[in-house]
Amino acid sequence: MPPDTPFKTIIEPFRIKTVEPIRFTTRAQREQALADAGHNLFLVKAEDVLIDLLTDSGTGAMSSAQWSGMMQGDESYAGARSFYRLEKSVRDITGFKHVIPTHQGRAAERILFSSMVNKGDTVPNNTHFDTTRAHVEHRGAVALDLPVPEGRQPRLVLPFKGNMDVAALERTLTERKGRVPLVMVTVTNNSGGGQPVSLENLRAVRATCKRHGVPLFLDACRFAENAWFIHQREPGQAGRSPREIALDMFSLADGCTMSAKKDGMANIGGFLAVNDEALAARAKNELILTEGFPTYGGLAGYDLEAIAVGLHEALEPDYLRYRIRSIEYLGGVLDAAGVPHMKPTGGHALYLDASEFLPHIPPAEFPAWTLSLALYLEGGVRSVEIGSVMFGRQPDGSEKPAAMELVRLAFPRRVYTQSHVDYLGEVILRVHGMRERIRGLRMTEAPEVLRHFTARFEPAHGSLLA
Ligand code: F0G
Repeated sequence: MPPDTPFKTIIEPFRIKTVEPIRFTTRAQREQALADAGHNLFLVKAEDVLIDLLTDSGTGAMSSAQWSGMMQGDESYAGARSFYRLEKSVRDITGFKHVIPTHQGRAAERILFSSMVNKGDTVPNNTHFDTTRAHVEHRGAVALDLPVPEGRQPRLVLPFKGNMDVAALERTLTERKGRVPLVMVTVTNNSGGGQPVSLENLRAVRATCKRHGVPLFLDACRFAENAWFIHQREPGQAGRSPREIALDMFSLADGCTMSAKKDGMANIGGFLAVNDEALAARAKNELILTEGFPTYGGLAGYDLEAIAVGLHEALEPDYLRYRIRSIEYLGGVLDAAGVPHMKPTGGHALYLDASEFLPHIPPAEFPAWTLSLALYLEGGVRSVEIGSVMFGRQPDGSEKPAAMELVRLAFPRRVYTQSHVDYLGEVILRVHGMRERIRGLRMTEAPEVLRHFTARFEPAHGSLLA
């Protein structure tokens, strides 16, 4: 599996020191669990899940180096040694001057947007993640997605489907002159299928922003995975390390928001990192209101240590190679059986294409949500819908089908083994075999914002399976 050996078996580049049992349930128990949860997998108890691919966020296994770092956590309120360790890691990896820790990514988003975005503004992004969109809209601004058109075609195999549409960005910055306070690029593009953004695209976005005098920020949650794809796929980058590439990515931006629950390899945490002194000062004032003093930002000293170490581990080539390959392997199993999924496979997840998997279920009956329920019912696998439940409700209250109906199987970092991946393949193939019997849903209650977390559903035609 490493590049210079003849072996093909994907092996985890770690051995296991602590184990956590996972629980088998019967199909009848899962049927009951679904009914109790209003057919919403967010409301199912984790102990009723066998393989939990709901998210790769905060669900990773930490290394022995991270745990030993945590034992050295400095819990001082101000000026803790652990903060300076984190600051050094972030500066070394990103090059940004000011490092502002937060309890997770969305807190960094809130602080950045309250410091920069006003009512009536527009914030372009290749594709906003749900919390990012919600925060922009919460400021009374428009969250504008500008992915390249090929990013919305699940079957097209192209190296950088996460790219931003630079011509559309140019038009937006011209038409909305003075009303675009910042541009964001999400690496990798989570809602767009975990697809990477190329250095070439980042450079073009950078040049466009510069011409219009608008700052560029990265939503950097999965920066290391993005760097690995660049290393693998972008001409001229094969000889460069993920670390060098990541530094290049960050050097094209004015700052970033980060959820350390992803490529920070930690269970909690995040940060905002910026170059601009005045912005950093405003952000720190915001931080003190809700997160805490700027040298801990809502985290314990030991969390800062875990992130300081984890950010470096996320850039290890052996780890990245195994991680990306393992997801690609599952993609290969599905391809061999003709199961439709977003191609190429992404950095942190595999996305099933529910529109094609369940073509008989209309968007109004939530095909991707339905498919995620079927995977749970048949195999105890928890995934997440990225489709019309998550994105269908418009700010004015109307409904519009999402651009794609996807089911995301997100891989926690360093948690599941290849035999878990083989099992997943079996479950998906089984559900694919019974796809014609699967029937859609009706939403019975939902809150106005971020409804996927708490909405409740019932089968629209009596039961989930005919
Ligand atoms: N940006 C992106 C691209 C994300 O994927 C997430 C979280 C956030 C921002 C917010 O970070 O959770 O630390 O507040 N994504 C998780 C997911 C929840 O499952 O994809 P957070």
